[in-house]
Amino acid sequence: MSTFVVLLGPPGAGKGTQALRLAKSMGVPHVSSGDIFRENLKNQTELGVIAKTYIDQGQLVPDDVTIGMIRDRLSRPDCKEGAILDGFPRTPLQAEALEQILREFNCDLCAVLHIKVDEEILARRTCGRLTCRKAGHIFHMEFNPPKVAGICDIDGSELYQRPDDMRETVLERIEVYKRETEPLIEHFRESGLLREVDGDHPIEEVTATMIALLENKAD
Ligand code: AP5
Ligand code: MG
Repeated sequence: MSTFVVLLGPPGAGKGTQALRLAKSMGVPHVSSGDIFRENLKNQTELGVIAKTYIDQGQLVPDDVTIGMIRDRLSRPDCKEGAILDGFPRTPLQAEALEQILREFNCDLCAVLHIKVDEEILARRTCGRLTCRKAGHIFHMEFNPPKVAGICDIDGSELYQRPDDMRETVLERIEVYKRETEPLIEHFRESGLLREVDGDHPIEEVTATMIALLENKAD
């Protein structure tokens, strides 16, 4: 049986942090639409050039571009057993596309974990975030500092602050989340897949809660 899990939550909720940990624990890839866009931006691909204008303004990249990109990623052999989806789907059209893609693969979505965190905490988390250049490993100046300042503990690459983590852009991203993505919570609740997770706990505790929820689901 395959394990496709969606992590849903506002900017700074901890999707990336938890997706990396869940992927490792469950032995499936971490598929982050934001990371794939950033990788394309770094390599100055055509996709990266298109995505940049939207990302810099805190807006969503158009559905057709995003859906095509995720379809390609999920078609790779490493996703045969499943994936932890971080940041996709984010609109009703993307949710529909994911359901269609999984049907074509003869797979089901196992669960949608909705990470809930108060709005004032989101700004502190995003503004203090440090991201590794090489692989997107995530740290925080205060809440999850690296052992050596400015250097990723895992691969030794440089840590940087995401340009879209400026305060005004974060506030816009939160508004976009409320408008475009929050309606998906009800959609997945109705389909019986939604599980709520309180994201305002230490990182390890949130992971343990998620694993317990996924294990119950598998029983
Ligand atoms: P994306 O990169 O997905 O950004 P996001 O959704 O805004 O989410 P973040 O990455 O900011 O937060 P996160 O929930 O991953 O939190 P993290 O674990 O890092 O998307 C960027 C842009 O790409 C979008 O704005 C859009 O333009 C485009 N895009 C992406 N997907 C798209 C799609 N599907 N459709 C259209 N456009 C799309 O944690 C945050 C910080 O908090 C870190 O520093 C971490 O160390 C810390 N932290 C985490 N958990 C805890 C905890 N429990 N306690 C204390 N600190 C914690
Ligand atoms: Mg993220």
